[in-house]
This record gives sequence, C-alpha cells and structure tokens, in this order.
Amino acid sequence: MKQIKIEGQHILSGTINISGAKNSAVALVPASLLSDEEVKIDNIPNISDIDALNEILEYLGATVKREGTLMIIDSRNIENKEIPEEISKKLRASYYFMAALLGKYKKVEMYFPGGCSIGARPIDQTLKTFKALGAKIKEEGNKYLVTAEKLVGTTVQLDMPSVGATINTLLVAVKAEGITVLKNAAKEPEIVSVATFLNNMGAKIIGAGTSKITIEGVKHLGSCFTEVIPDRIEAGTYLIAGALIGKNLTIKNIIPEHISSLIEKLKEMGIEMSIGKDYITVSKSDNLKPIKVKTLGYPGFPTDLQQPLTALLTQIDGESILEETIYENRFQNVKYLNKMGSDIIINDRTIKVKGKTELKGTTVEATDLRAGACMVLAGLIAKGETTITEIKHVLRGYENIIGKLQNVGAKITLEEI
Ligand code: EPU
Repeated sequence: MKQIKIEGQHILSGTINISGAKNSAVALVPASLLSDEEVKIDNIPNISDIDALNEILEYLGATVKREGTLMIIDSRNIENKEIPEEISKKLRASYYFMAALLGKYKKVEMYFPGGCSIGARPIDQTLKTFKALGAKIKEEGNKYLVTAEKLVGTTVQLDMPSVGATINTLLVAVKAEGITVLKNAAKEPEIVSVATFLNNMGAKIIGAGTSKITIEGVKHLGSCFTEVIPDRIEAGTYLIAGALIGKNLTIKNIIPEHISSLIEKLKEMGIEMSIGKDYITVSKSDNLKPIKVKTLGYPGFPTDLQQPLTALLTQIDGESILEETIYENRFQNVKYLNKMGSDIIINDRTIKVKGKTELKGTTVEATDLRAGACMVLAGLIAKGETTITEIKHVLRGYENIIGKLQNVGAKITLEEI
C-alpha cells in the first residue's frame, strides 16, 4: 500500500508542466479499436488508469507500443471476447470498450464499469442510446450482453448531458447505418477531442462541443494520429495550489479557456494571475473574498475541481457556499478537512465553508481521486506533517504528482507501507 507524506507550509515556485488529460486519453484509447488500421496517440499521461486500459487492449489481442508519451495501437487482430470483471471494474472508462466493440462487431459482453465511488453513476443513458440504435440488451446481474443485427442511425435525446453517454453514442453511431442526431449532448473538451480523433480516422461527426451532435455512419475507419489535450483538471488543481501557497508558480502547457470557470472564481476571490496563451502564473494573495460556487457541465464549474477548491475556501475569511449538482456523494473530503481543522458543514448537496481556519497535519484518507487531490492541497498548507492513505486513487489520475510538486519546492514523499 502506498501513502503520501507532506511537510506543510513550503512555498511553491517555478513551473509545473501539465500532462495530457486523463478523461480525454481514457476515451481515445478504447476508441482506437474502431480503426481498421494502426493509430498513434501522443501526450498520453503516465497514470494507472491508462495502464488498466492498456491491459484490456492487450487482453483483447491488440498490439500496444508505448514510447514515452506516445501510444501506438494496432487492433487489427483483436478478438471480441468478454472483458473480465476484475479488469473492467478498475475504472469507469472501461465502458468505452463496450461502445467501441458494439460499434465494430455489433455485439459486446461486458460488466458494469468501475470508477470513483462518488455517487450511483448509472449507465442508463448509454443503454438507452444503444437501444435507440437497434441493439438488444440482456442483463445478467451486473453483466451486459448487447447485440444488434444492425445499428441504424436515429435521433436520441439524453436525459442529462452525460459525458460518458455522449462519448459512447459517438463510438457506436460512427459505425451505424445512416445519420444519428444526439440532442442534449455534453459539451466537455474531452468530447471534442474524441470526435476529432474519430474524424481523423474518417468519421463524419459535426457539432461536438455543442449540445447537438450529428454523426453520419461510415463503413471504414483508418489510421490516424492525435495528441491528447492538456488536462484541465490537473491544471486547475495546481492553479489552486498556487493560490494557496504559490509565489510566481507557473502552470504551463494548458488551454486557459478550458478552465475559464475556475479562473473567474479565483478572480472573484481576489487572486491575481498572469494569464498567457498556454500558461498561468499565480501567487498567494491576501484578503480573499468568500464565494458561491455551483458545479455544472462544461463550460460551468467542473465537479472534478469542486473538492480541490474546497481546500482553498478554508483559507478565506467569511462563509463560502459550494453546491454539487452532478454527484450525490462527492463530499467525502470534508470529514478529513474538518479533521485537519476546517469548519465545514454539509447540508445535502451543499457545503458551507467558514474561514479562515488553520489546518494542522494529521492522517487523512484519499477516499477518491479528487478528494485525494484536495487532501494533498490541504497538506501543502497545513502546519506539521500530513499523511494521506489510499493514495492509489490519486495515482490513477495525476501523473507524477510527487515529482511535479517536489520540483516547485513542496516537501512531499511517496511511501510504500
Ligand atoms: N448519469 C446518469 N445516467 C447515465 C450517465 C450519467 O444518471 O447514464 C448521471 C451520473 O450519475 C452523474 C451525471 O449524470 O450524476 C454526470 O455523469 P457523466 O456521465 O457526465 O460522468 P461520467 O462520464 O461517468 C466523466 C468523468 C468524471 C467527471 C464527469 C463529469 C471520465 C472517465 N470520467 O464521468 O471524472 O466527473 O464526466 O464531468 O471521463 C474524475 O476525473 O475525477 C471524474 C470522476
């Protein structure tokens, strides 16, 4: 088991380079299966979620080469067989294989996907799309057998703009006959990157990044090259670190537009930043003002930055209010922040953060990926030593978090216990 130890209150300065986006890469890798030729994806982050997808690809018989951040995938010889539950439950993104295999072979057998335990996370919208396109679904416990004599394009409206269901619709509809129109689609940058990747292979997708996507099915998808977009959540996490304890901390290789909702909230608090084309430099500012935040789909404030932001809210005089509208169980970090000395009250989907409070180092748990990121941020400003257990959740999504923080002055170490 791995844990992190942080000696708090060391100033962060220098540059942190942001890696490729987890939530884009974890969709591009399964999407590569749809190609009838070799595909190359660069700027792949070195995180354990990618290793799990790599394992699935190889289990199915694909040839995968990884050279630094480049991944070369040849799935010409894959076998469409059931993906064992112990692999599929390692991560949420395993269900992109469900859609890609269904699109390619009109049949797939797979278990319910895993992922962070932050809510129920049903997959009904994905199944609804599969059915609308002509698939039949047999459920046996938590296993799904999905088959289609043929997949035929149609109009589907999602109940909510789900990122996963939007990507899954793209992955199936690219190989369906005729035109699919997806309404109430999610608009996250990760969706644009999957659509661009598929279009580079020869797909005909228009409207990705808006709430209406039109997909004209094609018979053949060929070779292509793409680069994973910068991770907006990793960028946002380090930007918050800079606001907490930075002195000219530069977050580089980013698309500032992708985190404009966070930037606006930081400005509202009174944090000064210098924003360039692909970087932001931030320092800790005094006399911050409390804020109200509500998580929403893109371009609203991302749920994935809600927990990291909470660490910063503890350092503002007055009462900040944060409402989580996407997941019903994404406040598991609060218990541990309060253990460190914060004053946060949970009321259903809303928290009230009363500040400013002094945080003190103690032992806390990374209950999920972004809760873990919140604990790291809290540890960076806490007095004394913070130990964070269950760190595997953090390593699923943040490439080299220890090295990146050490490079800018943090006293942070990873221990095997
Ligand atoms: N939902 C349904 N039915 C569905 C699909 C979603 O009710 O069929 C609900 C979910 O329960 C949730 C909401 O709709 O309440 C949004 O879920 P969405 O499908 O958009 O999320 P996801 O695709 O499961 C991805 C990211 C999450 C990120 C969300 C929202 C990946 C692998 N995961 O999840 O990332 O929070 O979009 O942006 O891309 C993370 O990185 O820490 C993380 C959890």
